[in-house]
Amino acid sequence: MTPDTARAAAADPAPWVVPLEVPSLVSLPDVGLAGPDDLIEWLWMRLGEEGLLAIDEGSVDVAVAVATGLVPGALVIDTAAAPRQRDWVAEQATRRIELVLADEPAARAGLELLTPIAGLSIGPPRPAPAVPPVVQEPVAVPGFGWVLPPGAGLGRPRGRHGAQGDGRVIIDAGTGFGTGLHPTTRLCLQALARHAADGGRLDRVLDVGAGSGILGIAAALCGGGHVDAVEIDPHVHGAIVHNATLNGVAARVRLATALADVAPLPEGGARPATAPYDLVFANIVAPVLVELAATLRPLVARPGGTLILSGLRGEDVATVAAWYERLVGSPPTIHDAEGWHCLVLRT
Ligand SMILES: C[S@@+](CC[C@H](N)C(=O)[O-])C[C@H]1O[C@@H](n2cnc3c(N)ncnc32)[C@H](O)[C@@H]1O
Repeated sequence: MTPDTARAAAADPAPWVVPLEVPSLVSLPDVGLAGPDDLIEWLWMRLGEEGLLAIDEGSVDVAVAVATGLVPGALVIDTAAAPRQRDWVAEQATRRIELVLADEPAARAGLELLTPIAGLSIGPPRPAPAVPPVVQEPVAVPGFGWVLPPGAGLGRPRGRHGAQGDGRVIIDAGTGFGTGLHPTTRLCLQALARHAADGGRLDRVLDVGAGSGILGIAAALCGGGHVDAVEIDPHVHGAIVHNATLNGVAARVRLATALADVAPLPEGGARPATAPYDLVFANIVAPVLVELAATLRPLVARPGGTLILSGLRGEDVATVAAWYERLVGSPPTIHDAEGWHCLVLRT
């Protein structure tokens, strides 16, 4: 690094991005032919100590995955094959990935390493877009009430009331999906409010794909008893505990990483069983809902149990509705907002 570039780096330490298009095979120096995953591992070895902060391996929208044939249109997934089939990024003929490097000199050094690699297409390095600080405002969810930032207090937030609803849940944003802004979450909160207003049972609640914990916590605040929050991503478990504590319901929320962890063991098992649940939320993408259907069935109270399924695009509704109608024995009520759909089923 020259004194000039060193000065520039000190003045502008913002991360830089190097975009790459990676075909199914590239030729790595000292390694030979390698696939995209090998390239990613190699990049960490070569640049991990040289300012490589992250590699965004890309993502594939469900609609794009179906349209391009990466997943079968029917979204019918054999459970054993599901993890492999859901790895849609890996199925793409050309992977678009982005390297995030500590600063411009690190990005230039990365470029020097990458340029000789045959088959790689390298985009121009650029400064990473600035991430705006999270400024949380109270979020109105008509029919339910409000999702409030910490510190907003439990008093009345400004704005419209009445049909708005009286529910209030405090969520510290930036810690797991579920801030009240996304239509899929809002549809679930509205379904919860209707369930509570109709006198639906809430003694035992299951929140599958808990994210920030918002749905299970809101149910606990609406008069719910015990809540099991199942979240596959252990990085957001701390957020669920934090949010449950902010709302004063932590003692009633139990965490698990997999649905199997809250399912009762076969007879003779030692695990305390909370099932059957009066109310089950699952706001997850359609393939996972299909995959979980058979496991969820025995966990829902019969009769009198309610299932609230969300995260569905229009094209997913028929498949998911058919699976769950078969399991539950009655058709769903369907609610929608901004292109997203939510199914409510009663046993
Ligand atoms: C769309 S977010 C929903 C978060 C929150 N419940 C809400 O409604 O806003 C889906 C969450 O499900 C989790 N998830 C995905 N597959 C899962 C699985 N098989 N079991 C449990 N959680 C899963 C994801 O990590 C993510 O946090």
